[in-house]
Amino acid sequence: MSLPPGFLDELRTRLSLTQVVGRKVMWDARKSNQGKGDMWAPCPFHHEKTASFHVDDRKGYYYCFGCHAKGDAISFVRETENVGFMEAVEILAGEAGMPMPARDPRAQEKADKRTQLADVMEMAVQHFRLQLKTGAAGPARDYLERRGLDPVAQQRWEIGFAPDAWQGLWDVLKGKGVEDELILGAGLAKPSQKGGKPYDTFRGRIMFPIRDARGRCIAFGGRAMDPNDNAKYLNSPETELFDKGRSLYNHGPARTAAGKGQPLIVAEGYMDVIALAEYGFGASVAPLGTAVTENQLAMLWRIADEPIIALDGDKAGLRAAMRLIDLALPMLEAGKSLRFALMPDGQDPDDLLKAQGAGALQKLLDDAMPMVKLLWQRETEGKNFDSPERKAALDKALRDKITLIKDPSIRQHYGQAIKDMRWDLFRPQRGGGQGPKRNWQKGRGWQPPPVPMASTKSSALAAGDAQVTDHLRETVILAALICTPEVAEDFENGLESLACNDPDHAVLRDLILRHAHAGSEVLRENIFAALGPEALDNLLTSRHVAIVPCIRTPGDADMARMTVAEELAKLSAAKGLNAEIADAVQDLEGVADEGVTWRLAQAAQAATQASRSGKEDDAEYETGDNGARISRSERDAFAALMDQISFSKRRN
Ligand code: UTP
Ligand code: MN
Repeated sequence: MSLPPGFLDELRTRLSLTQVVGRKVMWDARKSNQGKGDMWAPCPFHHEKTASFHVDDRKGYYYCFGCHAKGDAISFVRETENVGFMEAVEILAGEAGMPMPARDPRAQEKADKRTQLADVMEMAVQHFRLQLKTGAAGPARDYLERRGLDPVAQQRWEIGFAPDAWQGLWDVLKGKGVEDELILGAGLAKPSQKGGKPYDTFRGRIMFPIRDARGRCIAFGGRAMDPNDNAKYLNSPETELFDKGRSLYNHGPARTAAGKGQPLIVAEGYMDVIALAEYGFGASVAPLGTAVTENQLAMLWRIADEPIIALDGDKAGLRAAMRLIDLALPMLEAGKSLRFALMPDGQDPDDLLKAQGAGALQKLLDDAMPMVKLLWQRETEGKNFDSPERKAALDKALRDKITLIKDPSIRQHYGQAIKDMRWDLFRPQRGGGQGPKRNWQKGRGWQPPPVPMASTKSSALAAGDAQVTDHLRETVILAALICTPEVAEDFENGLESLACNDPDHAVLRDLILRHAHAGSEVLRENIFAALGPEALDNLLTSRHVAIVPCIRTPGDADMARMTVAEELAKLSAAKGLNAEIADAVQDLEGVADEGVTWRLAQAAQAATQASRSGKEDDAEYETGDNGARISRSERDAFAALMDQISFSKRRN
C-alpha cells in the first residue's frame, strides 16, 4: 500500500514520541527534562539499570547510548510490538486519530493469511497436546518422564505428541473446516506425490511448539522417540510464519527473564533450553536446527549485551563456536560481546544439569571465557611453536581474525589482548615450578599462567636479565685479561669496542689497553692507583667471576684466550640482538605482525646460538602453558628477549 504524500509527516507531528515510548519505559525523573522534551530511561531494547536511552521529543528521535538502538515512533512500535512497517503506521495512526488510507488489498490479504496460519498452528498445538494424554502416547509420556519432564513441565512447555499416522492432524483440521491451503501453508502437511490426500508432516514424534517473541506459534520441532529414526529432530519447513534464521526457541520468556537480570544463555537444543529454564536459568534460547545466524545474533544482542554461548562439550560444539566467532567479529560494537561456557566432555547443558545440578552449570557460566580467549585457544592449544615459521603462522592466523573486527577501538583491544596472551606463552621462565600446566582447563576456564618452570641453566650468566648478563660478561673479560695480561694484545679491537656502561669497567678497559703489555705487576699498580685497592679484589673474588677457570689459574694463556674470545663473541651477538629488538619493539606498537615475530625469532636464535657453549645443543622441547611445544633453548632466549622488550618499553 502506498501512503499519500505528507501522511507520515502529519503522523509524526501529531504524535509525541515521549508518549509512545512512555508506555514501555519508566522515565528517569532526575535525568529527564519534560519541558525541553529531553527524556531519559533505561533502554527497552537491552537490559540495563542505568538510563542511557534518550528521547528527543521535539525531533521525534530516540537513541540508546548503550546499545545504539535508534529511530522514530514508527521504528519504536515496529521493534517493541514486533510488527511490520504498515502495521506500525496503522497503530500510530489510530492513536493520532488519523484515518488510514484505503488498504492495499494484497497487503491486507497477506496480513490476514498470517493470522489465519497462526490460528491453524494454534489448533495444531492443542491437538498435539491432547494426543499426549491418550493411551497411544504412553511411550511418549514415559520418554518425557525419563528425561526429567514431569506433567507440570510438559504443560508449561506445551509439549505434545504426533501419533504415527499419515492423516491424524490432517483429518482433525479438515473436520474443523480448515482449508487445505492453510494446512499446507502452515507446513503441517505435505502434498502427496501419488495423487492421494496430503499427509502429516509430523508422525510418531514428540512435539515442541516454537513461538515468536509475541507468543504466536510459528513452527514445531518434532523429536523422534525411535533412536534409529534418521532425523532425530524434524522442524517445520519455512513458511510465511516461520523464518528459521530470524527465530529463537523460547524467545519471549527468555527476553522477559533477561529483563529481570538473568544471564542470557544460548544453547544448541530445545531440550537444553527446557532443562536450563527448569533449573532456574529462564533466559535461555536456542537457534532452530541451524547454526546461529547474523539475524539471531542481532536479536540476542537486543536482549543482552553479553549472551553466554553454552557449548556442547564436543568437537562439533567447538566448531560451532568458531563459526559463531567469525560471524560475531565484524558485528562487534562497544559493550556487545559474547562469552563461551564449555560443557564437560561430551555433555550438553541438559546432561550437565541432570548429572550435577544447577550449581555446576552456574560455575561454568561464571567461568565463561571471552571470545578472544577462545580464539587464542583454538590457534595455540596442542600446537607446536618450535620454529619461527610456526610462530609467524600463529600471528597471521590471529591477525586475520582481528582484522575482521570493524570497530577500530575494539580491534585495538583485541590486538592488545592477543599480545598479552602471546607474552604469557613465550614469557621468561624463571624460578622453580615443575611441569607445565595448561592455562585452559576444561570446566574451569582460563587459568592464570602457572609458576614458570625451573631454568635449565643455573649460572647467573644464563639467568635472564640481559643488562646484568652483559655486565657480567664484561667483568669476566676484564678479569681474565688482568690475570693474564699477555693475551690482551690479541684482543685490542674487541676491547676498544667494549661498551662498558659501568664507569669502573671503562677505566679498567682503558688501563688494560694502556698497560697490559708491561705485565701483570704494572697493570695492577695502575689499577690500585685509579680505583683503589678494593676494586681489584671485588672484581676477582666476586661470586660469578672467581669460579671462571682462567681466573682461578692466572697465567694460563690458552685458557684466557678462549674465555675472552667466547665472551666477546657473545657480547657482540647480544649487541646485534639489541638492534633487532629496538626495531621490533617499534613494530609491536601495532598488532603483532608476522615480520616482527620472524625477526624476533631470528634474533632469538642468534642469541641462543651465541649463548650456547657449542657442546650442549639440547634440542629438548617443553610444553608451553597451553600445550604448545617450544624448544627449551629457544624459550630461554625468548625469555631474555621479552625481558628486554618490556624493559625498553618501560623506558620509552
Ligand atoms: P541436539 O542433538 O544436541 O539436541 O541437537 P538436544 O536438544 O540435545 O537433543 P536430545 O533430545 O537431548 O537428544 C541440537 C539441535 O539441533 C537440531 C535441533 O534443533 C536440536 O535441538 N537438530 C538436531 C535438528 O534439527 N535435527 C536433528 O536431526 C538433530
Ligand atoms: Mn541433549
